[in-house]
Amino acid sequence: MKHFLLNKLIKKIFINHKLSTKHAKICSDALINAELAGAPSHGLSRLKMYCDRINKKLINPKPKIKIKKISQSISCIDANNSIGFVAADLAVKTAIKNAKKTGIGLVAVKNSGHYGLSGYYVEQAVKKNLIAMLFTNAPPAVAPHGASKSLFGTNPICFGTPTGSKVPFILDTSISMINRGKIRVAAKEGKKIPEGVALDKSGKPTTDPKKALEGVQLPIAGFRGSGLAWMVDILSGVFTGGNHAGRVKDPFTDFSAPQNIGHLFFVMKPNLFVGNSFNSRIKDNIKTIKKLPKIKSIKEILYPGQNKFNRYINNLKKEIHIPKDVLEDLKNLNAF
Ligand SMILES: NC(=O)c1ccc[n+]([C@@H]2O[C@H](COP(=O)([O-])OP(=O)(O)OC[C@H]3O[C@@H](n4cnc5c(N)ncnc54)[C@H](O)[C@@H]3O)[C@@H](O)[C@H]2O)c1
Repeated sequence: MKHFLLNKLIKKIFINHKLSTKHAKICSDALINAELAGAPSHGLSRLKMYCDRINKKLINPKPKIKIKKISQSISCIDANNSIGFVAADLAVKTAIKNAKKTGIGLVAVKNSGHYGLSGYYVEQAVKKNLIAMLFTNAPPAVAPHGASKSLFGTNPICFGTPTGSKVPFILDTSISMINRGKIRVAAKEGKKIPEGVALDKSGKPTTDPKKALEGVQLPIAGFRGSGLAWMVDILSGVFTGGNHAGRVKDPFTDFSAPQNIGHLFFVMKPNLFVGNSFNSRIKDNIKTIKKLPKIKSIKEILYPGQNKFNRYINNLKKEIHIPKDVLEDLKNLNAF
């Protein structure tokens, strides 16, 4: 289906679930963006989950979001259990506004929920010619180094910067070998997951996504990845007032309470230290790296975000594929 038609349907579903038209649009735009960016694990496949959580009063469709200004640069947001997309949209806009005024915008968010792709928000700041970093925690999926039980989420780390070209640099990566959404999609589609990304609940390596979801996911780079996940949990959970230390609820399986996820947005003007030469410096940096001799199998050295940018542009021209189970969800949600 064409992306703009699907967007209208999704918006209608959120409005039927009592979100305001403005909030419904924020949510449908974010889900369609995930599909176009080639991340269906964070797109329509999650729609039913968000609606289930609204129906069970774990996501507040009419949140009274409070923004507290701590200084010209720093704000904190209590999202009042809003859907994560709405909290993150407000947070990035606030961080951009603060950074435009003072050079730096730091915004903490608590009482939020799953917001999808970090890169979607960081890109909004980069499009305004700002550097941005974003951290969020997530439900337990990864065992801390040395532990046999999962506690850290796949806690994505996202960094973006203008590049002086129309393609932004956006490093947007989970700290796990594979993001959990991809394991869920593989489980639904009866596919295997790659070797070396997960252990079953008895600690044995597995390529069975269902066993992986019951067991633990492996962090990138062993104890280093575990350390990065811990850092994200501190910055987005401990520091913001959000849940942390494994207390973020799994949105698909734990309906005992709202998620209370925390996010931390950090936005900076690129000219803070080097003035207007940032543009030529970043261009020089990227050019130098791209000119390096390449290993045989590689045609071009890509910077993070380049592949996603190309995918997005290509997908804009195509129809969005709706898998059978998602089509069923859409029918059950009275989309048609
Ligand atoms: N909200 C949440 O709780 C949550 C949790 C985990 C992940 N996510 C999201 O899931 C998405 C996918 O995460 P992921 O870990 O699967 O990302 P990924 O492995 O697909 O990509 C990670 C990064 O590597 C870059 N990259 C990929 N191939 C490259 C290449 N050949 N050369 C140079 N760079 C390359 C990508 O541009 C990206 O920035 C992210 O947007 C993330 O924010 C969200």
